[in-house]
Amino acid sequence: MEKKIVVTGAEGQLGCCVKNITKEYPNLSFTYLNKQLLDVTDLESVLEYFDDNECTHIINAAAYTYVDLAEENQEKAFLINEQGAKNLAIASVIFDIELLHISTDYVFDGNAFEPYTESTLANPINIYGASKLAGEKAIAEIGEKYIILRTSWLYSPFGHNFYLSIKKAIEEKKGLKITTEQIGTPTNAINLAKVLLEFIQKEDKDYGIYHYSDAGQATWYDFAYAIECKTLGKNKGYINPIDNYPTKAKRPLYSVLSNDKIKKVLDINPQPWQDALKEL
Ligand SMILES: NC(=O)c1ccc[n+]([C@@H]2O[C@H](COP(=O)([O-])OP(=O)(O)OC[C@H]3O[C@@H](n4cnc5c(N)ncnc54)[C@H](OP(=O)(O)O)[C@@H]3O)[C@@H](O)[C@H]2O)c1
Repeated sequence: MEKKIVVTGAEGQLGCCVKNITKEYPNLSFTYLNKQLLDVTDLESVLEYFDDNECTHIINAAAYTYVDLAEENQEKAFLINEQGAKNLAIASVIFDIELLHISTDYVFDGNAFEPYTESTLANPINIYGASKLAGEKAIAEIGEKYIILRTSWLYSPFGHNFYLSIKKAIEEKKGLKITTEQIGTPTNAINLAKVLLEFIQKEDKDYGIYHYSDAGQATWYDFAYAIECKTLGKNKGYINPIDNYPTKAKRPLYSVLSNDKIKKVLDINPQPWQDALKEL
């Protein structure tokens, strides 16, 4: 059966990354829906769309991703991240569609000392994380054929992300102080897009929660330092470490995800984050 994939939130960072690699998957067909074409928070529109259009897989790249702003815009964050996910889960059950939904390392509280596995209890410490966890729970409650893929610290040449912000600042010769306090894994969103398409191509998979990030770990300072070296060919001192950079939303101090499960299931070997950055 031909696989017909609908990507929601298609103008965001991940949506653009999926679009960017589709040429490598001529056996798959793709439809890209931005917020104007399909508002995932509107159940009636969602059901109408999937009633009218044939689809075998949904990649839900629609989300509210402003971690600090979410503290003031709780309702909007939950509307998009919980209700939007729930609406797609309802459609996926009614129309027998596989749902691939993206979640985050920020569902964890950051108190761990070793990589978080899929069975570690989630305990978000900010509104964004809580809204994403609520979306996961809605899908798990309603959904049947679903993959929830938690990832971390996404960057790419598209949209708004840490890599592009740091690169721009360095090019404008602005000095920056970057926190050494939080540890996680930068993940090239193109690699995540490839993993999603690997999942779609895999038959007989176990549905449920998976983690995927590039390999290794870093602080935001390490990541910014590597971006400076990539942008200028060497370090010129624009990036400097600071212990704690105050932000509106609390962030987990440690949010490294274990890739053990996905490595076995998809038979993949995640790229070290430094190599993924160099390749960008
Ligand atoms: N970025 C990260 O560092 C990171 C880390 C871990 C996990 N994740 C997860 O990875 C996924 C992809 O993130 P991303 O970086 O690609 O996010 P993004 O760039 O913010 O993209 C999200 C897209 O969703 C759209 N959207 C918002 N409300 C919508 C609605 N009601 N209906 C349809 N589309 C809507 C946004 O449109 P507007 O911009 O016009 O509102 C935007 O185009 C998200 O689930 C995110 O939670 C991201």
